[in-house]
Amino acid sequence: MYGNDFAPDETGLLAEVEQAERALLAAAEAPSGALHFDDLVAAEQKIEPRDWMPDAYRKTLIRQIAQHAHSEIIGMQPEGNWISRAPTLKRKAILLAKVQDEAGHGLYLYAAAETLGVSREELVNLLLEGRQKYSSIFNYPTLTWADIGAIGWLVDGAAIVNQVPLCRCSYGPYARAMIRVCKEESFHQRQGYEILYTLSHGTPEQKAMAQDAVDRWWYPSLAMFGPPDGDSTHSEQSMAWKIKRFSNDDLRQKFVDMCVPQAEILDLRIPDPDLRWNKERGVHDYTQPDYAELMRVIKGDGPCNRQRMEHRRSAHEDGAWVREAAAAYAQKKADAKKKADAKKADAKKKVAA
Ligand SMILES: [Fe+2]
Ligand SMILES: [Fe+2]
Repeated sequence: MYGNDFAPDETGLLAEVEQAERALLAAAEAPSGALHFDDLVAAEQKIEPRDWMPDAYRKTLIRQIAQHAHSEIIGMQPEGNWISRAPTLKRKAILLAKVQDEAGHGLYLYAAAETLGVSREELVNLLLEGRQKYSSIFNYPTLTWADIGAIGWLVDGAAIVNQVPLCRCSYGPYARAMIRVCKEESFHQRQGYEILYTLSHGTPEQKAMAQDAVDRWWYPSLAMFGPPDGDSTHSEQSMAWKIKRFSNDDLRQKFVDMCVPQAEILDLRIPDPDLRWNKERGVHDYTQPDYAELMRVIKGDGPCNRQRMEHRRSAHEDGAWVREAAAAYAQKKADAKKKADAKKADAKKKVAA
């Protein structure tokens, strides 16, 4: 009943993740020899951190993976807002686990970016200085509990559609991180869907609250796929490098087609009077999101941009002592190891003498 992200057959999004995982393992077994970057990409092999790669490829990946990592971390805020107000202990535990997953996604992704020769500290500073972006969707407020359902269903749903093809990305560390992320995102989508299902089959007030949340989150979720193909600046090169596998518009269409039957089961209306099945094209016609609004929010003028960054900055400052303590502890361990190694080497020398 939850839709095609976990269809039991081989057509669901999770099945695609499984297939990508098998392909990844097969690629790891294949001898890469001294293949050049272009040949490796053409042969569906993975580029690994030790391999030569064009500078622009490295830069594109750093930008994309960092933006993705920042989105996971900032994305904890709108939902974190409801942890203390979740309607039951069970809902609270589930939401807590979900928000914690997002922190984990941020960690996998910062770690993947670090394999390209930047440090996590540098990337976090770029975010805090406003020189790197995060997904605009997180600049919208979560006004009611139903928003948590709508975020899970639509925002995590759009994230999965966007990210499943990244499981086949040509850069190995990113592809491997995405396989794990997608499996967890699938759980996120289901928990959101289940919240909405419960509300839409509850009291009329609960159903109205669910509908209101879907009305507010639908178009920002469509905008998550980025500008239309004609205006997308990085797409063509990313496709050639097999970082990206499908265009923004293709993914957006896939998302719409996935949501329509799910909305029927939810008994909630997608807020688009022009949404209908197009027999000739075999997909749904739908109204495009307001891309001018998307650009405004990207540029910093969304409802919560300022609040999100202020919160991130203060969380970063509050966490300084933890980073310092962790660094001091790591140094202490390293010093102790060095001392023990020197002692061992000494003892060996004495035995040899
Ligand atoms: Fe995530
Ligand atoms: Fe998620």
